[in-house]
Amino acid sequence: MPDIAFANGVFLPLAEATVSVEDRGYQFGDGVYELLRVYGGVPLRPLDHLARLERSARALGIALPFDTARWTSVITEAVDRSNYPEAKVYIQVTRGVAPRDHTYSATLVPAVVITVRAMTPPAESLYTDGTDIVTVPDLRWSRCDIKSLNLLANVLAKQQARNAGAFEAVFVRDGFVLEGATSNVMTVHRGSLVTPPEGPLLLSGVTRHLTLQLAREAGISVAERSLTEADLYTAAEVLLTGTTIEILPVGRINGRCIGEGFPGPITKELMARFRKLHA
Ligand SMILES: Cc1ncc(COP(=O)(O)O)c(C=O)c1O
Repeated sequence: MPDIAFANGVFLPLAEATVSVEDRGYQFGDGVYELLRVYGGVPLRPLDHLARLERSARALGIALPFDTARWTSVITEAVDRSNYPEAKVYIQVTRGVAPRDHTYSATLVPAVVITVRAMTPPAESLYTDGTDIVTVPDLRWSRCDIKSLNLLANVLAKQQARNAGAFEAVFVRDGFVLEGATSNVMTVHRGSLVTPPEGPLLLSGVTRHLTLQLAREAGISVAERSLTEADLYTAAEVLLTGTTIEILPVGRINGRCIGEGFPGPITKELMARFRKLHA
């Protein structure tokens, strides 16, 4: 089978999967999600993603219908059925199906959808030439640590980036850089890897965490502190992290070249170490 879906408790080809129009995910964006990357048929850090799914669901008062063992077996079966060695697994859990009403009953049964699609990695030239990013005002709510289905501000920001010929839009709130529309942001200042601290205004990225760990293992000092927009321009290196992009060097911000030489040595080191995780 090619693209696979698991919906309403059964596996089927993605093109045949359907959900109810009264699913609260469809009506309200009332749900949470995860995206996992599969390398050589094996998901990377599935337990980290499942732990974040649990945190996100708990924050919204949604009880996940599966325990870790069941998630693992369904994901494994979906990946095996797809037969894609390089894939992305999307998991979505909504509060359930009910006649449209903002309020909800505690008896709703959460609805699970999982899809598996082939993964085409970003063009290698992005890693060698660096990406373009633009900065945008952060129009999101104040619980960006929840990986919720409400992605309207991210959608608009990402489209704004694309329209400007850039790969990513980076949110700036009150002068502080938080994260990208689909990635976390890091800089290198005086040899240290710097990234904004975790908190309600950004998503705690699985790749962010892995990258900080790899940096520490490499003897690179790490600082989790606030970054201003001006810090981006004065950084020796700027990089994005995310499940599908891994570690991606940034070459230009709002059209201005950054850094000295490209990709910078710390980004290069981290990219190489990250690739070894799934080689
Ligand atoms: C807003 C946002 N920040 C950061 C990330 C990176 O998180 P991860 O490394 O877990 O993919 C994502 C990923 O989709 C995201 O949507």
